[in-house]
Amino acid sequence: MLTRADLAALPEYVPGRTLPGAIKLSSNEVPYGPLPGVVESVTQAMASAHRYPDMAVVTLRERLAQRLGVSPDRIATGCGSVALAEHLATVTCRDGDEILFAWRSFEAYPILTATAGAVAVRVPNTPAHGHDLPAMAAAITERTRLIFVCNPNNPTGTAVRRDELAKFLDAVPSDVLVVLDEAYREFVTDDAVPDGLAAFGDRPNVVVLRTMSKAWGLAGLRVGYLVASPEVAATVRKVVTPFSVSGLAQAAAVAALEAEEEMRRRVQLVIAERERVASAVRSLLPEVPPTQANFVWLPLSGDRATAFAAACEAGGVLVRPFAGDGVRVSIGTPEENDAFLAIAHTFFSAG
Ligand SMILES: Cc1ncc(COP(=O)(O)O)c(C=O)c1O
Repeated sequence: MLTRADLAALPEYVPGRTLPGAIKLSSNEVPYGPLPGVVESVTQAMASAHRYPDMAVVTLRERLAQRLGVSPDRIATGCGSVALAEHLATVTCRDGDEILFAWRSFEAYPILTATAGAVAVRVPNTPAHGHDLPAMAAAITERTRLIFVCNPNNPTGTAVRRDELAKFLDAVPSDVLVVLDEAYREFVTDDAVPDGLAAFGDRPNVVVLRTMSKAWGLAGLRVGYLVASPEVAATVRKVVTPFSVSGLAQAAAVAALEAEEEMRRRVQLVIAERERVASAVRSLLPEVPPTQANFVWLPLSGDRATAFAAACEAGGVLVRPFAGDGVRVSIGTPEENDAFLAIAHTFFSAG
């Protein structure tokens, strides 16, 4: 066998489906196109496309540092935050070490765990579909090297609060790295849900992971970043695939950061729609948990998740089923959401 035998069982990452002409509510994107200034900046950057980009991503790291109030040496960038999550496994784990996370959560975690040759320790979510932090703390062993706390959690939309997270972090040994994966931070409206960087960023074993893909509208250009201690950030920068943030991606991210006001305006539209969609769906399916992200989670057991996703697809709307567990529906434009709600109404009213 030419490749590692243990990778034969590796599940493939399943991206949200795309079908020409269909409404895409399957990948947690924001539906309003690139932010103002992004297309122009990328077009300009094309003139240098025959050159390698700035490998140290200096301008973007400086802009992020200014915005976040940290020094640039605490920042590492990557080809999407998912790549950084992978790099964090690389820099913490050797064969047989453990990576701990809630389940169900972001589907990349088990894949990157296996890729690193580490062992996944999955702690089931609470009946309310949120992280069970006390159980996660109890699951830490001397092999635990890395912990993901996905806040808000993909795909359930639930979020952990400041006090419970502080208590959890206090319980984690100082030589175990905790990643606060905040891909959906910009959509959080509950004040009790902490900004991981502001609340816990000064702890040396905490890493805050963020992305330009969601609220900032750059999913197609692949830029993520992390804020960590200078030592951890420097180690991650060493293992990042060289030039993995392209010149176009850097130009786009810098331009997007300049359009923060418009980003906030769009996020407000998404939040208003999220509340409307969540309450409409909850009237059909009362178990739908409160969401702090740009998607809603419909817990559906047995074959109901795939059946509902198929019904949505037949009606021209793509959602993200997790077989046996539920369906995640991203928030789109009001018209797109209406199309989804009409299908949901028919499906759930029929029992
Ligand atoms: C929780 C979470 N983290 C990280 C990512 C990765 O996003 P990206 O690689 O586009 O930055 C996603 C994307 O779906 C996510 O849901």
